[in-house]
Amino acid sequence: MVDVFITRKTFDEVLAYFDEAGIGYFHNAQDVPLPPAELAEQLAQSGAPALMSVLTDTVDATLLDAAPQLQVVANVAVGYNNVDVQAATERGIVVTNTPDVLTETTADLAFALLMAAARRLSEADPYMRAGKYKRWQLFQPHLGLDVYGKTLGIVGMGRIGAATARRGALGFGMRVLYHGHHDHLEADREWGAQRVDMETLLRQSDFISLHVPLTEETHHMIAARELAMMKPTAIIVNTSRGPVIKEVDLVAALQDGVIAGAGLDVYEEEPQMQPGLAGLYEHVVLTPHIGSGSVETRLRMSMTAAQNAAAVLQNQRPPNPVN
Ligand code: DGY
Repeated sequence: MVDVFITRKTFDEVLAYFDEAGIGYFHNAQDVPLPPAELAEQLAQSGAPALMSVLTDTVDATLLDAAPQLQVVANVAVGYNNVDVQAATERGIVVTNTPDVLTETTADLAFALLMAAARRLSEADPYMRAGKYKRWQLFQPHLGLDVYGKTLGIVGMGRIGAATARRGALGFGMRVLYHGHHDHLEADREWGAQRVDMETLLRQSDFISLHVPLTEETHHMIAARELAMMKPTAIIVNTSRGPVIKEVDLVAALQDGVIAGAGLDVYEEEPQMQPGLAGLYEHVVLTPHIGSGSVETRLRMSMTAAQNAAAVLQNQRPPNPVN
């Protein structure tokens, strides 16, 4: 019998976990997304009460209606904007995510992007490989911007935002400003962080790192107006969700020198990006949504989702419900 429908290739450890628990599964081992109609048809046919989805699966009302047997959608991600949570809740379906296990890994990438964009690593590396380095010069072609002691603005001081702020404050002596719905008392007390309004953050930060979920409120929260408030030397980093930045405005701001650079891991229309972005090199670093992309973390995320699915199947409260 099939209890769990796994939409994409998963780890052997996950399959072993289900085997040991006596939980039957269908596993799309191909690691390519099933087209929505095919996913709906196969999910309905499987009769599985649990769906283990990834962020490229659109779990909307149409899919949920095609599978009335569903009890749980266990998303293998901390973000769940690919799932219509309201539609699931209305149908009595539990939705779960994978918080905590990817916090430090994603903060590592945010900081790596910040550093790489500031110090122009993606320009310097191909320069070196191409044999263009002839001599050390005071005015080398890849002079960058200091990170140490600068001001770091964190938009969204949740787990990942706070982990990124901690790296800046403790590792790089940065002054931390943050914008969010709540005070972060530990950050205020331990690292002298300050909660400020968005405009203050935009105007005073040297580096701005985005850590908000994608919602109606955060959609395009960084557009031409906000970019214009930033320092011309500022670098923006996004490891959250692409549509938080209006990408066309960001490209224009980078082209016109409104801000200095960007480190981007997420894009508005993944896997595409605004055509202009690929032609921008100076202080611009682009990665393909690998914030949580270490082997250990992707395994932890997958196991967490499996445990969430199993809990619901065993009539227990899952560790990470979002509804
Ligand atoms: C998440 O967990 O939301 C990440 O974007 C996945 O890489």
